[in-house]
Amino acid sequence: MARKIAIANQKGGVGKTTTSINLAAGLAYLNKRILLVDFDPQGNATQGLGYRVGLGDPTVYDAILNDEVNISECIRTLQKPPLDILPSNINLAGADLQLAKIEEGRESYLKNALADIENRYDYIIIDCPPSLGLLNTNALTAADSVLIPVQSEYYALEGITQLLQTIRLVQRLFNPNLKIEGVLLTMYDARTNLSAEVGQEIRKHFKEKAYRTYIPRNIKLSEAPSTGLSIYDYALNSEGAKAYVALTREVLNNNVEGSDGQ
Ligand SMILES: Nc1ncnc2c1ncn2[C@@H]1O[C@H](COP(=O)(O)OP(=O)(O)OP(=O)(O)O)[C@@H](O)[C@H]1O
Ligand SMILES: [Mg+2]
Repeated sequence: MARKIAIANQKGGVGKTTTSINLAAGLAYLNKRILLVDFDPQGNATQGLGYRVGLGDPTVYDAILNDEVNISECIRTLQKPPLDILPSNINLAGADLQLAKIEEGRESYLKNALADIENRYDYIIIDCPPSLGLLNTNALTAADSVLIPVQSEYYALEGITQLLQTIRLVQRLFNPNLKIEGVLLTMYDARTNLSAEVGQEIRKHFKEKAYRTYIPRNIKLSEAPSTGLSIYDYALNSEGAKAYVALTREVLNNNVEGSDGQ
């Protein structure tokens, strides 16, 4: 059965999508069977891998809320990287409101949709939107664990407190088995004291949950999405690619058989 990892932080622009794409691609290139779920109405993970949703094409919105469409019909297989994607577009923006009107079980729509297909994959990576609404609750209810990217900047840790509260709430109400997969420092700049300080803070708070890998600020990582390529296909020798390879290996090591990702 797939290990489902939500990449979440309600703060915008901290590297959720960059991490979703390049962790999913990294695992795919190591021959893992991967589904990348774009669960953000911005559709950045979809576009960043060069997939264009055509008019009327079913998306993740249909997978969770359209009774006439099965999730299998919404999934697309890409060649480069070799993974499946459940694409998203602006249609998903309406899902929050629609779910809000549902009285019972509104937090479980993504979980229920994934249940039909999860045995086809080793990992399901869910790219979350920058909010703490019902989409995020659905992602955290569906997931086995949450990977939290944190940008190396001054207020980095303030937002995390709020996210941890949400995680605890979801654990209590809907998903008692939800774990913290790890906390990842992104856009690290080795020349600044601030980056080093945020790194120390994260290590202090999260201990072994803090990844040893830091993702550096790297121009190639910011250029890759506009080409529709993962960092490995765009700039394999870049510092960004090396860092995401290292992260992929850490995630794999933490999930070897017999380990429950604790
Ligand atoms: N390590 C990095 N070095 C340089 N640029 C980066 C790095 N990581 C991400 N970026 C760039 O920073 C911007 C925000 O990154 P990304 O889209 O991954 O964040 P996000 O958390 O998914 O944002 P949102 O909250 O809007 O979904 C993007 O333009 C991305 O290309
Ligand atoms: Mg994003």
